[in-house]
Amino acid sequence: MNNQGNNWNDNRSGGGFYPEQEIKRTYTPEEAGHERQRKPVSRFRHRRHRPPNPGVVLILLVFAVVFGVCIYMLASGRSRPVSEEDFLQSAVSTKDSELLESGENSREQTLTLTEDQVHTGDLILVNYAYPYTFPADAEAEITSVSSFKNDKYYVRDNTSKLRKSTIEKFNILTEAYYAATGFSSMQVNSGYRSYQDQVDLYASYVSTNGEEYAKAYVANPGYSEHHTGLAMDLNVYVKGEGIYYVESYDKCAWYRENCEDYGFILRYPSEKVYITGINYESWHYRYVGTPHSLIMEERDLCLEEYIDFLKSYTYDGTRLLYNTETGTSAPLDAGESYEKGILIYYVQAQPGETKCTVPVDCTYTVSGNNVDGFIITAEKKAS
Ligand code: DAL
Ligand code: ZN
Repeated sequence: MNNQGNNWNDNRSGGGFYPEQEIKRTYTPEEAGHERQRKPVSRFRHRRHRPPNPGVVLILLVFAVVFGVCIYMLASGRSRPVSEEDFLQSAVSTKDSELLESGENSREQTLTLTEDQVHTGDLILVNYAYPYTFPADAEAEITSVSSFKNDKYYVRDNTSKLRKSTIEKFNILTEAYYAATGFSSMQVNSGYRSYQDQVDLYASYVSTNGEEYAKAYVANPGYSEHHTGLAMDLNVYVKGEGIYYVESYDKCAWYRENCEDYGFILRYPSEKVYITGINYESWHYRYVGTPHSLIMEERDLCLEEYIDFLKSYTYDGTRLLYNTETGTSAPLDAGESYEKGILIYYVQAQPGETKCTVPVDCTYTVSGNNVDGFIITAEKKAS
């Protein structure tokens, strides 16, 4: 089975790297000051009243030039004479090195994002207010669960589908779950739904339980997370016994406590009904990716709140830094540098194309929020 890594893609940022050896040394003010003090203490000053000997002057001049060139070659580590071009190159490198030292802002790249991208990605918010924008080829990234899953969970119906990337992440989670507990009886009860699937489901809820009940548990067609292939309903299937809820089955404790480590969140918690507009659903899990799932847990935010919360964090203003060692997130002030961790920030979409900045020494992902912009998640490469 496919066992890929976590949320990080392999986008590699390019350009902007300046090897350390190219950075030329500049003199400190203290060193320059000492040099100025030494110069007047020259023995030649006392002999200026004597007529100079032209031969001696010429020899001294040649000696001075050769000496100066040697000193420069030693200082710059070069083994060949220095041309004017070398001096210019030296000046350019020094300027660049100063830029580099002024903070990671000087090592960045610009991405161009399209309006369509607002509606794609692991962090899209799909709810009563923000419908899913079905791509032209709606099922291009949707795959059969039974043919792509591992053997550490069940799928109720062999026709069930999910986004391929969601199955990959769930495979990773269930492998870890099995390794930790030996349990492998979770079941995908419902996955991807087309618009028509949702029409049929909503109608069947209305006919069985009435309109009010249907509204509380089933999203209107076009407004369901199930359209995205990022959401699924889970239960437990024990052969010869029956079906159980994940929330009350003892052996699901590991899943409930650890799913965020693998990028999955309980999407409709009981205490957020007034925000999500959907009744408590202990079975509905959504993939958003790490570290977002972990930050949402840390800060007790549902997806609506989290998408809103991220709008305070921008590249040029305060960004959010997730510390992978402590498992905590904190604001990072503009211009403040950081050695490691995951930077998260929001970029507001512009009509047509949107330019956005990403540090070059990071791997990054871009997700639309399905509202009005993008969320950049950038992890610093190990130095
Ligand atoms: N049960 C969730 C809200 C849906 O129908 O998408
Ligand atoms: Zn669901």
